[in-house]
Amino acid sequence: MVDAIYPGSFDPFTLGHLDIALRARGIFGNLTIAVGVNGGKTSLLTPNERLELINEITPPGINAIAFEGLLADFVRGFEHPVIIKGIRNTADLDGETPMAQMNKTLAGVETVFLPASAEYGHIASSLVKQIARLGGDVSAFVPLSVAEKITSLFDSRTPASGEKNE
Ligand code: PNS
Repeated sequence: MVDAIYPGSFDPFTLGHLDIALRARGIFGNLTIAVGVNGGKTSLLTPNERLELINEITPPGINAIAFEGLLADFVRGFEHPVIIKGIRNTADLDGETPMAQMNKTLAGVETVFLPASAEYGHIASSLVKQIARLGGDVSAFVPLSVAEKITSLFDSRTPASGEKNE
């Protein structure tokens, strides 16, 4: 049996991410969502907040855990790892192809690309954050609990407080 691993920042987890996760679980029977923790990167949600939201939203057979460092090192902890990536457009393909090739060289791990479903191809975490920061309604782009969480975070912050470092 393959250990399907879907890595990303998920800051925040969107309906596009959920769609890829559910489809990957449908193909592989199980899925680990690997939340990348990048100490140098500014994020809206802490790794724990992201894990809690993803584990609350996703059904059995999908489990979210955090990882630090190289994805190639993280996947070595699995017996038969395969990396899953969602591809929305040619920019994603251009960005993800060299990463897939590097991970194949580093850890011998294959990457499977799943095309985004047509209705989710425009959704990006960065745009969701921008819309929420400016007071817009993000409920068409993220699960309800994520919309509530990020809206409450921006409501409770001063305009100058910005996002936080991990
Ligand atoms: O959602 P994102 O921001 O596109 O996710 C990026 C992520 C976390 C999958 C990527 O940055 C990653 O794999 N980070 C781990 C560090 C690493 O392995 N870098 C080399 C990639 S070849």
